[in-house]
Amino acid sequence: MLSAPENELLCRVEGEAPMGRLMRRHWVPAIMSEQLAPDGAPVRVQLFGEKLVAFRDSNGKTGLLGESCPHRKASLAFGRNEECGLRCLYHGWKFDTDGNVVDMPSEPKASALPEKAKHLSYPTRESGGFVWTYMGPLEAIPEFEAPPWAPHDATRISIAKIELPCNWAQIMEGQIDSAHSSTLHSSDMRPAKGEATSKGEYWVRPSTDKNPRIQVQLTNYGMRYAAIRRPITNASTHDYVRITTFVAPFFALIAPVNSYNLTTVIVPRSDSSSYFHFIAWADADQPGIDTDAWRKFCYLVVGVDVDDHFRPIKRHAHNNYLQDRALMADGTSFPGVPGIPNQDIMMWESMGPIADRTQERLGASDIAIVQFRRSMLDAVRVFQEEGRVIGQVEPHIPQVKLRSYQGVVEKSVPWRTLGASDEEVQVLAGIEDDEMEGAAA
Ligand code: FES
Ligand SMILES: [Fe+2]
Repeated sequence: MLSAPENELLCRVEGEAPMGRLMRRHWVPAIMSEQLAPDGAPVRVQLFGEKLVAFRDSNGKTGLLGESCPHRKASLAFGRNEECGLRCLYHGWKFDTDGNVVDMPSEPKASALPEKAKHLSYPTRESGGFVWTYMGPLEAIPEFEAPPWAPHDATRISIAKIELPCNWAQIMEGQIDSAHSSTLHSSDMRPAKGEATSKGEYWVRPSTDKNPRIQVQLTNYGMRYAAIRRPITNASTHDYVRITTFVAPFFALIAPVNSYNLTTVIVPRSDSSSYFHFIAWADADQPGIDTDAWRKFCYLVVGVDVDDHFRPIKRHAHNNYLQDRALMADGTSFPGVPGIPNQDIMMWESMGPIADRTQERLGASDIAIVQFRRSMLDAVRVFQEEGRVIGQVEPHIPQVKLRSYQGVVEKSVPWRTLGASDEEVQVLAGIEDDEMEGAAA
């Protein structure tokens, strides 16, 4: 439970809101690379309530500009993207990817306007299937680093994406909530003996336990937590451990299956809307899953479930996500909606545009969520008071070294080292533990 002011501090990201200011100090995954073709249609992107337009010029360079033309505010999303620039349809002003005005046909040749009219633009980089941007003060721009899901050039990355009408924090809390997976997703994550793996249509996990014990380890980039369940076999000597790694403020590495690793990326579009991405990624030693198969598995296929701009077109609140009560009654589907993300979306959106955390009843299985809130509220306070940015402190662990984990292990094995790279084990050994167990706030 949070007080009303704490909830506002956690959730609001627009304008001068402190959380938005903190998020702007990180590189932001603004749009998927595949959404921008050279000289292709410009794409509207909204970040922290700010309306922008992304495009890729004739040379393949990406740009992210203010959506409104600086001349008289017409939308550049209707513009012509040609010959290395985006041209406003109204009077023809043309901008390069850095926001420089490179043509101004409606003004006299000798006009000094082009120099004065430089348009709002944010720097961009490309990595891991995304175009990234930085929207904070330029003097504080952090070095760009590859994200956790792009450790190698050859890593195969499949991204499912959807725009959702709710606040970022309740979506992120869904990533840090292992307990729900045993109930909401019980038709898609089925208990079975053996290894946790993908069976094509569904995943299996070696546990029937719906009541995980949660243990949290704070890190200087966010946190890791373990959800510890009784395994189906060897329950007296072994634990089934699922570890989630939260990389503040946008990523959660959730427990992998054998075939691929999983990451969720949540980017605030406004106070009350977000871009949600579900990423399956695989290195050479894993089978992986291609983008088409992944989007089918997630029921987030472009042209079927979402439109070209990744907005829902099939299942949404107005049609109750096409929940099928016959399938619920006959045991085929516990939630009555196919696709793990759709099941989550139904829950996240039903909490309201910004969940009211002043009226909750939290339990022991919510410990990681309580810690996530504390960590992000602390991060905002430290940022406001000392200017320090979470994740941008020494010692820095390269993001490509971060991992989640799942597996059945002997009870004597300390979970903190599971899935952690040698670099991380060393770094974390020097950071004070702040573990909580058995008590929810
Ligand atoms: S409004 Fe864009 S050129 Fe005039
Ligand atoms: Fe979920």
